[in-house]
Amino acid sequence: MYFETHSHYDFDQYNSDRDELLSRILPQAGISHILNIGTSMKTSRTTLEMAQKYDYVYAALGFHPHNAKDLRYRDLEIIAKMAEDAKVVAIGEIGLDFHYDHSPRDAQRERFKEQLNLAMDLQLPVIIHCRDANEEVYDILANSGAGQAVGGIMHCFSSGAADAQKYLDLGWHIGVGGVVTYKNAPALREVVEITPRHRLVIETDCPYLSPEPNRGQRNDSRNLVHIAEKIAVIWGITCEEVAEITTQNAKRLFGIN
Ligand code: NI
Repeated sequence: MYFETHSHYDFDQYNSDRDELLSRILPQAGISHILNIGTSMKTSRTTLEMAQKYDYVYAALGFHPHNAKDLRYRDLEIIAKMAEDAKVVAIGEIGLDFHYDHSPRDAQRERFKEQLNLAMDLQLPVIIHCRDANEEVYDILANSGAGQAVGGIMHCFSSGAADAQKYLDLGWHIGVGGVVTYKNAPALREVVEITPRHRLVIETDCPYLSPEPNRGQRNDSRNLVHIAEKIAVIWGITCEEVAEITTQNAKRLFGIN
């Protein structure tokens, strides 16, 4: 059974078959839990609606750094109110994205810190998005103490093993996605090698980032098996063991029985 720790099933790419996927296809494919991730007020709402509709779907609420410019202060109060729902198990995805710079960097920094504080107030773990901003994300996380206070996932981790170790030392989990199956990703395979088994979780980030052999197609959680297979080879255990270990890790992190 697989715990999908990062999906966006509320996105338009699933408009034609969302219910069929979530009510039948994914459970039959051995997907036991899904954490759907908010990126804005709109997608935080649609994420919570999906979590209320499907037993095995859980919600993370938050503003992606791309949308930092749209976050108004009272949105944090709205998110706090929505987070009273038991299906809300995390805040995210939040962080910094200096690759696209869709929001001004100052706004990204401020909204990131505010949402980290919100997560600590609510005692919820955090999903971190970091792109081309590793040093600043590290400094903000180190100063916040959030890794020890609430923990969370460095989603779709994309730096090398030395950086991974620094986040592990702060208390973060490493989220590994489809990139681990790509030919040009030896650094990420090294990250998997050095990450303790109890600190790694798997994710697709669907609809994006399909792993090999389905690279380029719309992604969904059935592809977790290809990610687990790759990790199994690196760790020298079976794919089923990777599924079991990463599922337990995610359940522990999010307080799900
Ligand atoms: Ni995402």
